[in-house]
Amino acid sequence: MKIVTVVGARPQFIKAAVVSEELRKYFDEVMIHTGQHFDYNMSEVFFDEMNIPHPDYNLGISGGSHAEMTGKMLIEIEKILLDENPDLVLLYGDTNSTLAGALSAVKLHIPICHVEAGNRLGTLDNPEEVNRILTDHCSKILCCCTKSALEFLEKEGLGDRATLVGDPMYDAFLKYSEQVGDEIPEKLFDLDGNEEKVPEKFYYLTCHRAENTATIEPLSEILSAMEELDEKCIYPVHPRNQKMVRELAEKHNFKNIIFCKPVGYMMSVYLVNHAKKIVTDSGGLQREAYFARKQCVTIFDHIVWPETMTEKRNQLSKPSKEEILRLLDEKVSFENYDYPFGDGKSSEKIIEVIKKSQNLE
Ligand code: UD1
Ligand code: UDP
Repeated sequence: MKIVTVVGARPQFIKAAVVSEELRKYFDEVMIHTGQHFDYNMSEVFFDEMNIPHPDYNLGISGGSHAEMTGKMLIEIEKILLDENPDLVLLYGDTNSTLAGALSAVKLHIPICHVEAGNRLGTLDNPEEVNRILTDHCSKILCCCTKSALEFLEKEGLGDRATLVGDPMYDAFLKYSEQVGDEIPEKLFDLDGNEEKVPEKFYYLTCHRAENTATIEPLSEILSAMEELDEKCIYPVHPRNQKMVRELAEKHNFKNIIFCKPVGYMMSVYLVNHAKKIVTDSGGLQREAYFARKQCVTIFDHIVWPETMTEKRNQLSKPSKEEILRLLDEKVSFENYDYPFGDGKSSEKIIEVIKKSQNLE
């Protein structure tokens, strides 16, 4: 049985690292990298560090409007699917690469397995929500990370295609946390390529959502909050907002923030596990904060991962200096910790679900 996997963005490489390893024990995998993320430290570093097999195709498609990017991907993925004639297409998450994979496959009547299915914000203003809903409705096999995601799918009449498998991000986090341990795994470089020292105590910030970076005000507020903290803040800057960050850094001369290039996954795992607290707008990072039992403030209007939000462990904030600082100041406990993201074996469960769907069990 042949499976074509479509990936393109940083979080998808991390999920594919653990799922592909399991998948390749039983199936032939052909991997398409759309090219959506392309800088070394947004793409190749993950393939190198996590031993992900080199993609069979790299489409080199990135940037432009959503329609431009998705449209170009759609055309190129279709050609490959016609050529490869797979039994299944495997997709992750909610990026434009995911949507392009889904539309290409469903129109060719190729069954789709969607991993990380069912999360819902309740607004089509968010581009990832559109990608998620459309991909879910095009897919034959829906693998949910959490019970709440499964329930959303049941409400949408998709329950019979859905299975709760747990979160492959959790599999990856457990595996690589053990590997990384307490050693700093790689050097940190500022935006000009100069080495930065990793402080013993620090906060970890990431911010890349369109909602927080389309104009300069939200980021300006977020950075002003970080500047006030009692320890340094490490901020690997996503390429989307490096220009804006440089402008703000020049204007405000921040002393407490270490602006650096995006780091590899090993380093990110180290930063999560050793941070005092985490501030982010990333779907992945807010889960990792929970996995590592770190208090998190998520700069976003909508709940994506309700399971992380129990007992104020992860709280939503507007991009407002006062609100971020107030929430970070609250006392949070990780006693009574439960495991809503599975047991670290979701990759195996995904493969079982695929086998079952093909009557291979
Ligand atoms: C995308 C996903 C988002 C995901 C994020 C992970 C969509 C709609 N959004 O957002 O769900 O959370 O990836 O990080 O698919 N760029 C570079 N170098 C790179 C990567 C990007 O310069 O290696 C530039 C692009 O050219 C573009 C901008 O950054 O101008 C934004 O990239 P894009 O892939 O469109 O969106 P992300 O913000 O990365
Ligand atoms: N991450 C990384 N390097 C960085 C920032 C984040 O490896 O410089 C990892 C992080 O640990 C998490 C994933 O990237 O596993 C999250 O990806 P991102 O925030 O880009 O996307 P999202 O999860 O929001 O879709």
